[in-house]
Amino acid sequence: MWTFHGAHGSKCPLSVWNQWRWVYYAAVVCLLFSPVRTDEACPSSCICARDSGTVTCRDGEDAEVPGDIPEWTSTLILRGRNISTLQRGAFMANGTELQVLTLSLSYNGIQVIEPYAFLGLARLHVLDLSHNQLESISARAFHGLVELRSLYLNRSVLPAAAAQLTHALSTQSLPNLHRLELAGNRLRSVPLVRLDIYNLHALVLTNNSIESIGRENVTNFNQQRRMRVYLSLNPFRCNCELEAFYYWLKNSSQCPDAGRLLCSEPEAKRGVPVERLRGEDVDCMNENLEAVSYVFLGIVLALIGVVFLMVLYLNRGGIKRWLNNIREACRDQMEVYHYRYEQDSDPRLANVAV
Ligand SMILES: *[C@@H]1O[C@H](CO)[C@@H](O)[C@H](O)[C@H]1NC(C)=O
Ligand SMILES: *[C@@H]1O[C@H](CO)[C@@H](O)[C@H](O)[C@H]1NC(C)=O
Ligand SMILES: *[C@@H]1O[C@H](CO)[C@@H](O)[C@H](O)[C@H]1NC(C)=O
Ligand SMILES: *[C@@H]1O[C@H](CO)[C@@H](O)[C@H](O)[C@H]1NC(C)=O
Ligand SMILES: *[C@@H]1O[C@H](CO)[C@@H](O)[C@H](O)[C@H]1NC(C)=O
Ligand SMILES: *[C@@H]1O[C@H](CO)[C@@H](O)[C@H](O)[C@H]1NC(C)=O
Repeated sequence: MWTFHGAHGSKCPLSVWNQWRWVYYAAVVCLLFSPVRTDEACPSSCICARDSGTVTCRDGEDAEVPGDIPEWTSTLILRGRNISTLQRGAFMANGTELQVLTLSLSYNGIQVIEPYAFLGLARLHVLDLSHNQLESISARAFHGLVELRSLYLNRSVLPAAAAQLTHALSTQSLPNLHRLELAGNRLRSVPLVRLDIYNLHALVLTNNSIESIGRENVTNFNQQRRMRVYLSLNPFRCNCELEAFYYWLKNSSQCPDAGRLLCSEPEAKRGVPVERLRGEDVDCMNENLEAVSYVFLGIVLALIGVVFLMVLYLNRGGIKRWLNNIREACRDQMEVYHYRYEQDSDPRLANVAV
């Protein structure tokens, strides 16, 4: 208004309009581009691909998660960054929630995951934590990942953290988990207490140290009909403890790599596919029968021993007599010998005596 009015009254309206016009254009340009420009800022030492929504940060000096991850990021890849501790709210540096769907944190030397480390990632679908050195995993580590479908922890969990992992996975934080990969972690048992709190379709436990899978686990597998369990490269001990598992392998189609499960013990069955064992090999009745027969043998031997002792005892009179007889006989023999010896030893003495 003021400008317009001024322009009317002015002798030189065009020059004034020109002056203000440039300010106006500058303002419009600033307004249009300023939010885009902050949005497009890429964290230092990262590569940003806006089209695919991917931010990749490799081999930085930083020991932390970058704080200024763009809002549009849907895939965030951090790798080789020596993040030793994943702190509480590590991905909420500015208190804003990220819309990240895929988060890859493999090869970062992560040792500790603090409680609520993934807070603010409510939409996360895929979390890859493979190839780290996890020593400590909080029971609330995965809290808030309600949409998580796939969790990869291949070759990442050190033995010290295996029990903690069980806790972290058990606190009903992952209701939509479809795929859990735990290959190469030297796990000795199935690290899940229950299965009904997830929606698991695939449980990958290949290349671990699982020797046996008990009846309880098999029952739980059976109840999760949709679930597939991958178990190759584990050192199975093929004795009768494996019976329920053996029949599950043969009966159900829940183990896609069933043909590649091998016995590592006992020595005689090393390298034999678990599936190819015979029913007798894992039959506890068989094994029990064997044990029972040994017990019987022992009892029979003991009985024979007792009978022998009884015979000895009952015959003690006869034996005593017999022993006495032997002793007498011996003594007689000795005396005769002694006498002869004395006679032969010194003929002169004998003469003197006579
Ligand atoms: C987030 O916070 C950091 C400092 O804490 C700041 O440098 C950065 O600009 C902030 N990013 C956003 C998107 O607000
Ligand atoms: C990783 O960071 C820790 C401290 O946070 C440091 O002690 C260690 O030397 C670093 N390792 C490498 C390979 O940079
Ligand atoms: C391990 O995790 C990776 C994801 O980083 C995945 O692609 C791979 O198939 C997993 N499984 C095994 C057995 O390595
Ligand atoms: C199995 O896991 C160990 C680490 O636990 C690794 O060194 C080895 O290469 C893995 N083997 C296969 C066949 O993946
Ligand atoms: C598997 O077996 C272990 C050891 O017997 C047990 O602690 C765990 O709860 C079982 N898990 C499932 C899902 O059956
Ligand atoms: C399934 O397993 C049971 C033992 O649990 C066995 O008696 C039965 O014969 C098996 N069925 C088939 C089709 O193999």
